[in-house]
Amino acid sequence: VPVSRIRNFSIIAHIDHGKSTLADRLLQVTDTVQQREMKEQFLDNMDLERERGITIKLQAARMNYKAKDGQDYVLNLIDTPGHVDFSYEVSRSLAACEGALLVVDASQGVEAQTLANVYLALDNNLEIIPVLNKIDLPSAEPDRVAAEIEEVVGLDCTDIIQASAKAGIGVNDILEAIVQQVPPPADTVDQPLRALIFDSYYDAYRGVVVYFRVMDGQVKKGDKVRLMASGKEYVIDELGVLSPTQVQVEALHAGEVGYFAAAIKAVADARVGDTITMANAPAAEALPGYTEANPMVFCGLFPIDADQYPDLKDALEKLKLNDAALSYEPETSSAMGFGFRCGFLGLLHMEIVQERLEREYNLDLITTAPSVIYRVTTTEEEVIEVDNPSLLPPIQKRLKVEEPFIKVEMITPETYVGTLMELCQSRRGVFKDMKFFTQTRTALIYELPLAEVVTDFFDQLKSRTKGYASMEYQLIGYRENPLVKLDILVNGDGVDALAMIVHRDKAYYVGRAMVSKLKELIPRHQFKVPIQAAIGAKVIASEHIPALRKDVLAKCYGGDISRKKKLLQKQAKGKKRMKAIGTVDVPQEAFMAVLKLD
Ligand code: GTP
Repeated sequence: VPVSRIRNFSIIAHIDHGKSTLADRLLQVTDTVQQREMKEQFLDNMDLERERGITIKLQAARMNYKAKDGQDYVLNLIDTPGHVDFSYEVSRSLAACEGALLVVDASQGVEAQTLANVYLALDNNLEIIPVLNKIDLPSAEPDRVAAEIEEVVGLDCTDIIQASAKAGIGVNDILEAIVQQVPPPADTVDQPLRALIFDSYYDAYRGVVVYFRVMDGQVKKGDKVRLMASGKEYVIDELGVLSPTQVQVEALHAGEVGYFAAAIKAVADARVGDTITMANAPAAEALPGYTEANPMVFCGLFPIDADQYPDLKDALEKLKLNDAALSYEPETSSAMGFGFRCGFLGLLHMEIVQERLEREYNLDLITTAPSVIYRVTTTEEEVIEVDNPSLLPPIQKRLKVEEPFIKVEMITPETYVGTLMELCQSRRGVFKDMKFFTQTRTALIYELPLAEVVTDFFDQLKSRTKGYASMEYQLIGYRENPLVKLDILVNGDGVDALAMIVHRDKAYYVGRAMVSKLKELIPRHQFKVPIQAAIGAKVIASEHIPALRKDVLAKCYGGDISRKKKLLQKQAKGKKRMKAIGTVDVPQEAFMAVLKLD
């Protein structure tokens, strides 16, 4: 079809508002996917994703649609991940589109993520089509939610489409709106090739498969292309479209969306946001918006069984082939032995990687509490980055310590404003702004240290507001603060994996809370185990775990055998995730104790 009859769009929505269900519906209604081959939620094809019901990797689908005007159109749906950790990926897939469907659950309303994604769409000059979804629900309040979208997002909602992705209501209206309201791509086929990478994945047989949108010019099978950011050149072995399974084609032109394979070894060589151009006739300038992935959250990963270290290394290498944002380097801990310090985009990214390592690679790991990158200026005026609290230079060696700050936007019903302000205040937050939209939508804006958010901030926000508040954040820069290193000693030995960097004013509180939490979490031993928190040589809090008084089985003597068995089983289970630190067995939960201090 001519470029005037191509429409490239994405769907932006808050988690659970029905993005995947609607995408499936569109594929079905346009006969892109036959009913019988329709796996539920075609676009989310990673198992882990399906289980968690969240979209992690984005993909694309090409649909043919005969509109009411009698013309045939090609509609390219570019899927976006629904989580703040992946907002760079979201911004790049939006950059590949001319329009976006804004899907809002008619029984809920506008959430922080919806808003953040709308801003990204506006930054990319997209035409935004609002859609009320789930109008089949008895609890749907289309009028209230439409008013809310007008108020909060500032979109005209007079003729808003009322839909139910589940019941198939309004789906044709949505397709027509895409054809009529989303502008066609610019016809720049005569210009030098520039194509935007919005996703890629590693395939063991073909190498990296790159998903891209041709912005200018055209690309053919056999072309030698250059990736402008990485500078690497490849010959295209395979070129195609996603319908949504891969179908090979000979050429793709400006405005079209497709994939290629070119024996690229790792996704890090074809990063999201990079520009593809022709090796022998390169474009003068790359497309705007490319950024390197910057890990923001770090943790240590250690095999429980030291023999698994090579397997962990191997697994990380494999995951990295498919995840340019994952970083890792070997770490040796006096307490934990050999492991890796890993960097992630955010907490969700961290959880996903941990889970995949354990599930897909069968590893038993101990993970340490999440930390951020501190910028330390030493007395030698040297600036070093510290992603591991145990490596903070001693106080006499440092001039200043800076920590990353983020701007957090929360959207909450008015009744919870007080409790959220308390939460932010207790996390060293700086109040910035409050905007009252409607009874159920108040926006609260704070600046917070990232370190105070990577511990259980999100869980707190959810539990304090009964799940009604949502949040979104972005990095705003580094700020100097009086930060100190808090060491934890178990049985007299400093445990590097438990060291923390905390604000001076909170050190006593955190120290006391940590030792009493650890007292709860570390099981009793045959001997008394002292637990202390210290800053430098000064102990600021201490507790001890009393020794076991008698054999746990003693009370079963003469008793019934099944009870004894049960007790032994219980103990065996409790033993699973332990790391021996000296002579003390410390369970996994202890390394996460800092997340549970409130
Ligand atoms: P993420 O993938 O996490 O971003 O979520 P999503 O926005 O893709 O939501 P998804 O499509 O997975 O839908 C979330 C839940 O809402 C599922 O249980 C769907 O069955 C349900 N749902 C989606 N659309 C409708 C609808 O129109 N009506 C009703 N009643 N339920 C719907």
